[in-house]
Amino acid sequence: MKALTVDRHADDFSCVKLSDVERPVLRSGQVLVRMSASAINPSDFNVIHGRYLQALQRAVWNYQKPTSYLLPRGQPLKRAPCTLGSEGVGVVEAVGGGLFARRLLGRRVAVVAADSPESGTWAEYLAVDANRALPLPKDIDDAQGAMFFINPMTAYILTREVLRVPRGEYLLQTAGGSALGRMVVRLGRRFGFRTISIVRRVERAAELRRLGSDAVIATDSEDAFTRVAEITGGAGVGYAIDSVGGQLGGEVLRCLSPRGRLVCYGTLSQQNTVLPVREMMMSLASIQGFYLGNWLASQSKWKLFSVLHNVRKLIGTGELRASAERQFNLSDYETAFAYARSGAGKALFRMDGG
Ligand SMILES: NC(=O)c1ccc[n+]([C@@H]2O[C@H](COP(=O)([O-])OP(=O)(O)OC[C@H]3O[C@@H](n4cnc5c(N)ncnc54)[C@H](OP(=O)(O)O)[C@@H]3O)[C@@H](O)[C@H]2O)c1
Repeated sequence: MKALTVDRHADDFSCVKLSDVERPVLRSGQVLVRMSASAINPSDFNVIHGRYLQALQRAVWNYQKPTSYLLPRGQPLKRAPCTLGSEGVGVVEAVGGGLFARRLLGRRVAVVAADSPESGTWAEYLAVDANRALPLPKDIDDAQGAMFFINPMTAYILTREVLRVPRGEYLLQTAGGSALGRMVVRLGRRFGFRTISIVRRVERAAELRRLGSDAVIATDSEDAFTRVAEITGGAGVGYAIDSVGGQLGGEVLRCLSPRGRLVCYGTLSQQNTVLPVREMMMSLASIQGFYLGNWLASQSKWKLFSVLHNVRKLIGTGELRASAERQFNLSDYETAFAYARSGAGKALFRMDGG
């Protein structure tokens, strides 16, 4: 079968190949999914470039353990050589045994890949534990199914579980025009918190206002700090989420009110956040990291069930709905990556020619 793979990490995409690989062999409790579509997420690029791996290498719990870069619960992080792609949608074509797996035979499911090297959704087939496959109702189309887990869960967890932004409070966010940023705006409308969205280009502002962002700041024509001061009457914001880093991440920290909280969850600028330490000291602000896989791994089964249940409901009611602007064949991966990187919109791989 065809799959996009890497046999090494590199700063560009020269390490990515469309390969002919063996169709996965099923273990007990697994399902074989014929993939229809799969999301291209910014985090997939971090896997390709080995950036998550570098971050783990620098963490003390992995210090001097060169062959086993481990996440807190002891699971290894995906590394080359491996098949790429983290989430997608497809139809269960075979099962490796087990009651739960058998119930999924013939069903259309949203899947999330495991950390093992052969488990990737940018492939014609995926073998995955049945508990990583969620049957989809008819009202969820393939595009939404392909983006079912990562962004919707992150948007929900950041605002409702980690920060628990209260009604009426401001939440400041960077990359407001991203798929995830748009979900956060809609969650704000639904749960009554106010959103201030920072975007790079003024063209993105109107769309976000239409979506319901209480204020939009375009950094190509406005200064984020000055505008947040104006919008909040000089009070600053109690809550912020940042997926850009660099200078902008630091600016966001300066926009916090006393005891304000910032969660860093992405590095779209590829730069570390420049921390204004004294401002942070004076306001007793706090800054926290977030990585979906590790957050999920640290929760009880009950919490995971309740988060998934709520996310499923909010996809149904539209707050966590995702849309794809472009679809590509696996063989067109270079064009697909360039499109995904351009910020023009969300891109998917289609494996079924749909
Ligand atoms: N930590 C986690 O567990 C987790 C989970 C899910 C997602 N994330 C992160 O969430 C972020 C958004 O993901 P997504 O799938 O929603 O992205 P996406 O839809 O692909 O959108 C990317 C957006 O990023 C903006 N952007 C790109 N480079 C930028 C830069 N240098 N400075 C400012 N803005 C930039 C673009 O905005 P323009 O309109 O200005 O071009 C575009 O709207 C990513 O960083 C991703 O890694 C993290």
